[in-house]
Amino acid sequence: MAGRRVLLIVGGGIAAYKALALTRLLRKAGVAVRPILTAAGAQFVTPLSLSALAEDKVYSELFSLTDEAEMGHIELSRSADLVVVAPATADLMAKAAHGLAGDLASTTLLATDKPVLMAPAMNVRMWDHPATQRNLATLKGDGVHVVGPDEGAMACGEFGYGRMAEPEAIFEAIMGLLEGPAAGPLAGRPLSGRHVLVTAGPTAEALDPVRLLTNRSSGRQGYAIAGALAKLGARVTLVSGPVSLPTPAGVDRVDVESARDMLAATQAALPADAAVCVAAVADWRPDEAFGLKLKKGKDGPPTLTLVENPDILATLAASGPARPTLVVGFAAETNDVEAHARAKLARKGCDWIIANDVTEPGVMGGEENAVLLITREGIERWDRAHKDQVAADLAARIAKALT
Ligand SMILES: Cc1cc2nc3c(=O)[nH]c(=O)nc-3n(C[C@H](O)[C@H](O)[C@H](O)COP(=O)(O)O)c2cc1C
Repeated sequence: MAGRRVLLIVGGGIAAYKALALTRLLRKAGVAVRPILTAAGAQFVTPLSLSALAEDKVYSELFSLTDEAEMGHIELSRSADLVVVAPATADLMAKAAHGLAGDLASTTLLATDKPVLMAPAMNVRMWDHPATQRNLATLKGDGVHVVGPDEGAMACGEFGYGRMAEPEAIFEAIMGLLEGPAAGPLAGRPLSGRHVLVTAGPTAEALDPVRLLTNRSSGRQGYAIAGALAKLGARVTLVSGPVSLPTPAGVDRVDVESARDMLAATQAALPADAAVCVAAVADWRPDEAFGLKLKKGKDGPPTLTLVENPDILATLAASGPARPTLVVGFAAETNDVEAHARAKLARKGCDWIIANDVTEPGVMGGEENAVLLITREGIERWDRAHKDQVAADLAARIAKALT
């Protein structure tokens, strides 16, 4: 990484302290870091700390006679291979989405001709606000790369999405972008230049505004597979049902709730070279999602009528010219694992089925998995292993199949 340069914009959020750790990671990897600190950012970390760790001067003012004489703001915006915004405040995202340029950070984002990576960090309500979500969609449409945010406890005491991705995850995303699919070490990675779609987690089917039909899937296996594919150089879109897991480094995550939302998100993510359907999609949903909470009453419990959900795996496997070259399904079975999995392979029209016996202790929701790989050619029994190992082995098999 020696010789690569990052322009690091540090916005005004509590997570600004993590920008210091990120700076250290980058410097240790030999990447030059030139920091821009917003006025609000300077309320959270000092220019001195940032400058000492970056081993460069900190830029803050747009109208600075000395800075402008030494390096004009346009030159500054182009003086790196990549512009990283961490933390990307709601304010910086809004400015960048609307092309505002009232200070050095926003002017840089508008003037740069280099790729931009943002690591959003804000309160969950700010993140969920339609304005922020609109800005996010605009930025992504403009080609801005986004890492995180994660779900978790926040400094403000609330819980939800908005925690900035950890410095290590931002670092990985930066490495991926600096290396690029077409040049550098990623070029040698087996899935470089490939797009893989992964579904993970449960779906949640609404019965009324407070009740759901869902299942015990933790999402761990699917998340591990998404991370393993990204490590092999793939561009990974992870369509995820509701889980409490951080987004693996280098993975683009789309959150959904119901099976129908998941189907729409998978179709929107096509074309893909491979699709790995790990999500535990609910087979059925209540035929009606009541707008108001169902109440106990003298008529006794309500009768639930279920209707069938769309079959995401079968739909992907039958998507004509848009069909991924390799479609992999997962089968969680409680009995006759092999027979059910073989039948599923034929019924769904997919290429491989990974079958697991979820009655085995510690599999459903746990850390380990014991799987069978069923292809049209035959069947392989893999030793019980940590889900990360199963993910790495499967990613390697997918890479082999695509090359
Ligand atoms: C204690 C405190 C914490 C804040 N944390 C955040 C935050 O995490 N994310 C965010 O978007 N704004 C946060 N804000 C609000 C921003 O600092 C404010 O919108 C500021 O104008 C952002 O400026 P900048 O985008 O130029 O850095 C916080 C404000 C305060 C007082």
